[in-house]
Amino acid sequence: MIAVRDLKKRIGSQEILRGVDITVATGETLVIIGRSGGGKSVLLKNLIGLMRPDEGEISIDGQSILGLSERELAGVRRKVGMLFQAGALFDSMTVEENIAFPLREAGERNQHVIDQQIAEVLEVIELEGQQKKMPVNLSGGMKKRVGLARAIINRPSCILYDEPTAGLDPVVSDSINHLIRRLQERYQVTSVVVTHDMKSAFHIGDHIAYLHEGRIYFYGTPEEIQRSKDPLIQDFLVGRSTLAD
Ligand SMILES: Nc1ncnc2c1ncn2[C@@H]1O[C@H](COP(=O)(O)OP(=O)(O)OP(=O)(O)O)[C@@H](O)[C@H]1O
Ligand SMILES: [Mg+2]
Repeated sequence: MIAVRDLKKRIGSQEILRGVDITVATGETLVIIGRSGGGKSVLLKNLIGLMRPDEGEISIDGQSILGLSERELAGVRRKVGMLFQAGALFDSMTVEENIAFPLREAGERNQHVIDQQIAEVLEVIELEGQQKKMPVNLSGGMKKRVGLARAIINRPSCILYDEPTAGLDPVVSDSINHLIRRLQERYQVTSVVVTHDMKSAFHIGDHIAYLHEGRIYFYGTPEEIQRSKDPLIQDFLVGRSTLAD
């Protein structure tokens, strides 16, 4: 479903991605972990064409997305939902207008259908009755969940999640993890999840990729990464800094 080959991206004088290779099979969940500032969000933005790589290949569902026009990219984006790290809600729109945005973009005009779908998805993210609120009046975790609702509302076949559980309480985090699993099991959704939350990584990931210095340093199943003797991986998993006290 997703194939990335030798992806390179430089921003200014900084080489962020130095040759990333990843493959995600249909219906699979790939978790990407790595140090803060390592380029995980940049990688996701390249995958939906919000940033263009300097070199490499990206294909989504068998279609190369490089060199596509904005209009062609819009077609790809209908297949791919994205939850942005900071939520990225439209501040001037209510919760329901934000969530309905992808439906309207896709041409849905029937208000009854839209209302119905919004009510359904609000139930899933446990924000029933919050339709009319403005983003400024939501807590951080609520914004994140509205962003999630917007990412899944038009049933994309592929969803990219940037830190879906960061800043959420443990109970909501757990329900988001279950939601990601459920979407995978019920609708065969292909997912890429960037997270710092190792518990959720082990729970939802079929595979885990560790992005380090612009490349995928480790790739394996949750069991494989937990068994890894690599010092870099071990330090990351237990959250050990290399600085001495
Ligand atoms: N639009 C941009 N302009 C300039 N630099 C950018 C831009 N986007 C990202 N960067 C730089 O690219 C690097 C990687 O950023 P990125 O947001 O991908 O990190 P990350 O791995 O997602 O980190 P975190 O775990 O903290 O979210 C950082 O040094 C960042 O400053
Ligand atoms: Mg990030």
